[in-house]
Amino acid sequence: MRILFLGPPGSGKGTQCKKLAEKLKIKHLSSGDMLREAVAQNSDAGVQAKSFMDAGKLVPDPVLIAMFRENLTRPDVHGGFILDGFPRNVAQAKALDELLQELGASLDSVLNLLIEDSFLTERITGRRSCKNCGAVYHIKFAPPKTPDVCDVCGNPLIQRSDDKEELVKKRLETYREQTEPLIEYYDLRRTLKTIVAEGEPEEVFARILEALRIV
Ligand code: AP5
Repeated sequence: MRILFLGPPGSGKGTQCKKLAEKLKIKHLSSGDMLREAVAQNSDAGVQAKSFMDAGKLVPDPVLIAMFRENLTRPDVHGGFILDGFPRNVAQAKALDELLQELGASLDSVLNLLIEDSFLTERITGRRSCKNCGAVYHIKFAPPKTPDVCDVCGNPLIQRSDDKEELVKKRLETYREQTEPLIEYYDLRRTLKTIVAEGEPEEVFARILEALRIV
């Protein structure tokens, strides 16, 4: 299966994509995770990306398009993939269409996580993640057993540098201006399904499975 997730920052894309990728045994391709890894490694892409991410803006399209071209042509995605965070504007969506056409593939489903803005700031500012293994927690909704320590590998948890309250507003503005138009883009192509992303993560996951007709 080839699935794309849309949704504002903090809507739960990463949380749900991880669970779905595990269930379907397909690759979860997260643009944010790839960019954070590139920044940590100080690669050319990471150096280009950092200042945009720190400002809550989109990283220039060529960086993302090259990154996804590389990932989508790898043999381990032939069985399917879940896209999380790419595309993020119409130019990237058109580039993805071209790339999939080259590969003789198409998206099976586009899922849009729908959620009131009022939930997003609390979800984002309370997120903590493990720099070592990538596990994601929330100080209120999904706390680790020991505060600030990863349940999986025992390393300290950190707050993402772009998860500070003052940047969240800018990230939401960027989403509204540049990413939200993709809802119409995919709706016109009849691949879009809307998932209410409020409620417990398990409830949201059940809605996703139902929309994808997975039992
Ligand atoms: P990215 O990492 O993609 O961030 P984002 O889209 O802003 O999304 P988030 O990771 O903030 O949220 P999420 O929806 O995954 O929520 P999560 O599941 O973690 O991008 C970061 C930056 O990289 C961008 O700002 C941009 O600069 C750049 N970038 C990325 N892609 C790009 C592209 N294509 N082009 C250009 N630039 C790009 O959940 C959030 C929290 O809520 C967690 O703590 C979780 O535990 C909790 N939670 C999840 N579900 C629930 C629930 N149901 N109830 C309660 N809490 C919940």
